[in-house]
Amino acid sequence: MADALLDVDGLDVVYDIRDATGRAVRRLHALSDISLVLERGEAIGVVGESGSGKSTLARTIVGLVTPTKGHIRIDGKELPNRRGSAARHGIQMIFQDHTATLNPFQTVGRILDEVIALWRPGMAKQQRRQQAVSLLGKVGLDAEALERHPHAFSGGQRQRISIARALATEPRLLICDEPTSALDVSIQAQILDLFADLKREGYALLFISHNLAVVNRIAERIIVMQGGRIVEQGDTSATIRTPSHPYTRKLVASAPRLSDRGTLLASVQARSDNPEEQEKTR
Ligand SMILES: Nc1ncnc2c1ncn2[C@@H]1O[C@H](COP(=O)(O)OP(=O)(O)OP(=O)(O)O)[C@@H](O)[C@H]1O
Ligand SMILES: [Mg+2]
Repeated sequence: MADALLDVDGLDVVYDIRDATGRAVRRLHALSDISLVLERGEAIGVVGESGSGKSTLARTIVGLVTPTKGHIRIDGKELPNRRGSAARHGIQMIFQDHTATLNPFQTVGRILDEVIALWRPGMAKQQRRQQAVSLLGKVGLDAEALERHPHAFSGGQRQRISIARALATEPRLLICDEPTSALDVSIQAQILDLFADLKREGYALLFISHNLAVVNRIAERIIVMQGGRIVEQGDTSATIRTPSHPYTRKLVASAPRLSDRGTLLASVQARSDNPEEQEKTR
């Protein structure tokens, strides 16, 4: 069998909890024995209560947190745990707080150009501009955005810009940590459509969310975390229909508001009945 795009094997992360003076007072086991495999072009959703270790998992994969144990392999090769090495191996992370990652003093053109120039050192200026326009097109923004600063955009548009910037490094895997939770519902839906499009284009996604309905829409497989462990994983629709772990059952029962529940279950049903519907189901 060909090597998986991402293979996480037996990952442990322990944080030192420090007091005000910086002295380590206790240790917190944030991830315990996490293993998962993500194939090319596949989307896996990661759900779990606050503090269950979802962001720690994402940050460890991209090298922002050093694991105490375990392996992270890309295409079967061990990924060095260093900042920047994930990007070089085709992994990009999209953060929830996109405002913190876009320099307010630069135009969008400059923000994109810096990444493109770093990524493709030989590329001429005019070509880089074309590349920036094409990236904006992918996220549904037009060339006019190049001349404007981040503050001149709405929250949803800024999230699109940060996605365009992530795409500038030509990643194969996007790790998205609650990428829509700061947005209002209608903008959330647009950004989710964008992720669905990116998935159709062949990007693999590791999609972290509190929201089961969101994961159901984006990801064919789901991982449920609790207390730093994976307590259940499998096909998303099947897991939502017949959750086996008590925590997953609780999540299914409580996640969608009652008014959303019919939609969620109807969409699960449509996905399981008709594979073509899976593409269209929102
Ligand atoms: N840098 C850190 N130092 C110490 N403890 C940390 C650090 N980052 C996270 N933690 C702790 O690790 C645990 C897992 O945190 P993490 O941010 O991964 O959870 P999460 O599932 O992403 O939660 P949320 O849904 O609220 O974003 C929590 O108990 C958190 O307090
Ligand atoms: Mg988090």
